[in-house]
Amino acid sequence: MNLNTNSQIKNNHNKTENFFLDVKKGLESDPKRLSSKYFYDEIGDHLFQKIMAMPEYYLTQCELDIFQNKTSDIADLIAFDDQPFDLIELGAGDAMKSTHLLKYMVKKGLDFTYMPIDISGNILSILDQKLNESLPELKVVCLEGEYFEMLNKAASLSSRRKVILFLGGNIGNMELDEAHSFCSGLKQHLASGDRVLVGFDLKKNPHTILNAYNDKTGITASFNLNLLTRINRELDADFDLKQFQHYQTYDPVSGACRSYLVSLIDQVVTIDHAVISFKENELIDMEVSQKFSETDIKELAEKAGFEIKGEIRDSKKWFIDSVWKVK
Ligand code: AVJ
Repeated sequence: MNLNTNSQIKNNHNKTENFFLDVKKGLESDPKRLSSKYFYDEIGDHLFQKIMAMPEYYLTQCELDIFQNKTSDIADLIAFDDQPFDLIELGAGDAMKSTHLLKYMVKKGLDFTYMPIDISGNILSILDQKLNESLPELKVVCLEGEYFEMLNKAASLSSRRKVILFLGGNIGNMELDEAHSFCSGLKQHLASGDRVLVGFDLKKNPHTILNAYNDKTGITASFNLNLLTRINRELDADFDLKQFQHYQTYDPVSGACRSYLVSLIDQVVTIDHAVISFKENELIDMEVSQKFSETDIKELAEKAGFEIKGEIRDSKKWFIDSVWKVK
């Protein structure tokens, strides 16, 4: 008997059970909600790549601008001494942006291990293969799972100085109070002298922001609806996708850009043995993409016990990568 295969099956079973409990709890709350962290199955990964390639989705270009054109500024801030370190990326995805930094630092002969963390094992294996081909000298350790669990794992694997990358405005997927407790939690998982680089999408013209999440082509709509398809497939549910519609809002005062799915009729959906009723026009709260002011960022860093060591902006000044040191 193969032990690995057995523990893999058990692991997948637990994952499905947690997914089910989360979905059930979300749809039984008022207002109904689903967590956008579940968007990223194989089709979701693919749809997000299409979003990143949309001209409306300016975030890609902004942070790419920083990683392509200000690479040495970033490297100076994170590799500030001659000590070897672990570069840990939270939610690495395809690592399109960080690959520029990886190439630069490998070329400079810096001693570091790249540890991408992602909830999608699918995207990690693609990334691992890609890096093996394009940067064979780079040491890579892939960690599949939740951020803090995998940070513990990284700490158990090596005691080297840690540098955390949290890019792409991923922090925006948390409510502001969640972002605060996340940053405090992150600090708890790090040691004095460790550094983090967090990408923040800044508040800007509200039309620009809304357009990035409300594309005419409907890719963002499909990205949201795909979570229902995933629930149908993985949790034996019967969502009728034609009876749900994507709705996007942006509130320039709070900086919250939110997506919802609207039930178009009174309807009942079963998910395994759970029964969920929807009223016509009832909403499922799907995702928040929070936009920040520079004061918001300062507050976030300081309240969690970080000191800001540097801030790198794209040429349009729409996006900031903020580099923090654990005090
Ligand atoms: C992956 C969290 C950065 O919120 O901008 C893109 C996800 N959702 N379009 C974002 C997303 C809809 C994206 N992040």
